[in-house]
Amino acid sequence: MSKEVITEMKQSMKLPVIMAPMFLVSNPKMIIQACKAGIVGTFPALNARTGDILEDWMVQITEELEQLKHNSPDQMAAPWGINFITHRSNKRYEEDLKLIKKYKPPVVITSLGDPSPVVKIAHEYGGIVFSDVINIKFAKKAIEKGTDGLVLVSSGAGGHGGALNPFAFLSEVREFWDGPIILAGGMSKGEDVLAAEILGADFVYMGSRFIPAIESSAQDAYKEMILDANIEDIIYTDAFSGVKANYLIPSIINAGLDPQKLEKKEEINFDKSSGELKAWKDVWGAGQGVGSIKKIQSVSEIVRELEKSYEDAVENISKQQSKARL
Ligand SMILES: Cc1cc2nc3c(=O)[nH]c(=O)nc-3n(C[C@H](O)[C@H](O)[C@H](O)COP(=O)(O)O)c2cc1C
Repeated sequence: MSKEVITEMKQSMKLPVIMAPMFLVSNPKMIIQACKAGIVGTFPALNARTGDILEDWMVQITEELEQLKHNSPDQMAAPWGINFITHRSNKRYEEDLKLIKKYKPPVVITSLGDPSPVVKIAHEYGGIVFSDVINIKFAKKAIEKGTDGLVLVSSGAGGHGGALNPFAFLSEVREFWDGPIILAGGMSKGEDVLAAEILGADFVYMGSRFIPAIESSAQDAYKEMILDANIEDIIYTDAFSGVKANYLIPSIINAGLDPQKLEKKEEINFDKSSGELKAWKDVWGAGQGVGSIKKIQSVSEIVRELEKSYEDAVENISKQQSKARL
């Protein structure tokens, strides 16, 4: 994939931020608002409980963004994207792949498994595929299978986060990959975005920052818990889905469990229609960046705040640099 595609994508964005897909949290309204505000909005295909609902969502998103283009040709909307589970346990694999072919989401983010079937389809209509990875082995595999970009899900990321330090992870991946990199894990502020760019990332993937958005599907108590939480309230455990993920400790306590005495769930279950659903419904996921999330705001307010803190960070850096030169 050419660098021009990424440059073109960035030109339609106010900040190089991708609102990350979140199970039971992301919905079409959030996606539309994110794209209108100037960042990429994405959602997990499986948040739509059936293929028919997914089709309705894709129609709604494409129509609203088309309408915006038609009504205000000068106002650019950022591209939208869908998260597609490329693992064999995804019972909607074929059905959702057909919808991707039909509705042509500009960005497809693959999780788990071989991205090549969706890469073939996305490339036919001019879409981009990013694959999320938690280690070097999976990063190399995704490149081998033809992905266009890597989402480096580093330590502290909400949901199924990895365990690698983002500095070291990104720097090692850059040894063998000069394509797009999206950095993920614990970032909630504009200065985090600037820092990620300085490290060499093309985009930042932000999930937890958007859980307490007015438009999000998270329950009110979940949103409030995020506002009250800090880094000490996050636990990384495989007790709920069989795979290590970051969760809010207070939600585990509220579910009647002792966070000190959790046991590994033996069965690894990526079928979100059964086992994992309960985990995410009763025990809430969030990343280590929760400490700087203080208010319930609309998606557009969050993006504006990110823009402002990004600009402030750029200014601070240049001030520091001119002082250092004196
Ligand atoms: C509640 C929650 C649910 C998530 N569900 C998914 C999912 O369904 N698919 C996926 O690829 N990533 C999922 N993630 C991971 C995010 O896409 C992203 O990697 C993460 O939120 C980035 O870290 P941050 O939350 O610290 O910003 C989820 C994260 C959270 C917090």
